[in-house]
Amino acid sequence: MPKNDTFLRACRREAVPYTPVWMMRQAGRYMAEYRKLRETRTLLELCKTPELALEVTLQPLRLGFDAAILFADILLPLEPMGASFEFAKGEGPVIHEPISRVEQIDALRVIDPQEGLGYVMQAIRLLKGELSVPLIGFAGAPFTLASYLVEGGKSAHFVKTKRLMYEQPAAWSVLMGKLAEVVRRYLHAQIDAGADAVQLFDSWVGQLSPADYEEHVLPHVAHILSDVETRGVPVIHFGTGTATLLELQRRAGGTVIGLDWRTPLADGWRRVGHDRGVQGNLDPTVLFAGADLARRHAKRVLDAAEGRAGHVFNLGHGILPETPVDTVKAVVDFVHETSERRPRGPSVG
Ligand code: CP3
Repeated sequence: MPKNDTFLRACRREAVPYTPVWMMRQAGRYMAEYRKLRETRTLLELCKTPELALEVTLQPLRLGFDAAILFADILLPLEPMGASFEFAKGEGPVIHEPISRVEQIDALRVIDPQEGLGYVMQAIRLLKGELSVPLIGFAGAPFTLASYLVEGGKSAHFVKTKRLMYEQPAAWSVLMGKLAEVVRRYLHAQIDAGADAVQLFDSWVGQLSPADYEEHVLPHVAHILSDVETRGVPVIHFGTGTATLLELQRRAGGTVIGLDWRTPLADGWRRVGHDRGVQGNLDPTVLFAGADLARRHAKRVLDAAEGRAGHVFNLGHGILPETPVDTVKAVVDFVHETSERRPRGPSVG
């Protein structure tokens, strides 16, 4: 058990001395020490070298976060499955042969995560010896991974992805089923290696209507989460643009459901249900408008959570590359100070 288990307790909706805080993408380009390492190494080298992944994972912890997130990327499993890719400068991920034919889907391998992703589990094992806060493992969710595989990279309208889903529902189901099975195994392997919690990133699922989510995505997410939840570690189910999907996401599973900034936290939590935790929901761009404004917005999030058990403070989506580090630190400190709970009960003396 890590020394500071406030994050894990909050995920389980237990009483906590203060609201724990971490930020999605907390390791990355907004930090000078990360940019320094990146001068001589590619992103994939950092991910695939456990000693470097360890170093980068630890970098943001000096800002006072209550959890560490393993340094890796959601796309890593695609390579051993048979879909190679690279991170092109200024463009983001580029899949070398985007999927457009059924034969390509049939050729994708449902891998054992030790085969081809062993470096991730090795980084987790190294980290476990170094951390005093819990370690979050993660994977991409099938829809978000499928969107990269089919579009070949980032996308505005997800036309190719949705065409496959609408026109070839059987092929779509095979693709989603393969991705879901790999992700299920991968999350188990991360927990076996020592991850204290795991997060499923369905970053782009908000592109779907509730009906399409329910029919074409939910069963595959449920395949992963219903199984991984039996491990007893908190499972965070995250997406953006999900205002109309929250009830369905809850049904698909998760100890904690992510809320972006478009949904007011109190409304979102009501929809998720107070018997689940929530994570979020500060707009990442408020961190660009100075510490005072960022603190005011952070206060709004805390007020909306009403000190209820089960809130993990986070951004509504990943931290952006140019974010000022001082403002991040100011928000972390503010959340800790403002949310501190006085011990209840009769005062002694
Ligand atoms: O949170 C963390 O600190 C852990 C590390 C992490 C990375 N990627 C490293 C990374 C995590 C959790 C991810 C998840 C990820 N990767 C997601 C889901 C989260 C989200 O924000 O929605 C997605 C969609 C990806 C795919 C991906 N990786 C994209 C679209 C890009 C390019 C983005 C850009 O701004 O260029 C990446 C690259 C990537 N992965 C970086 C980092 C730190 C960029 C930094 C670099 O180039 O050094």
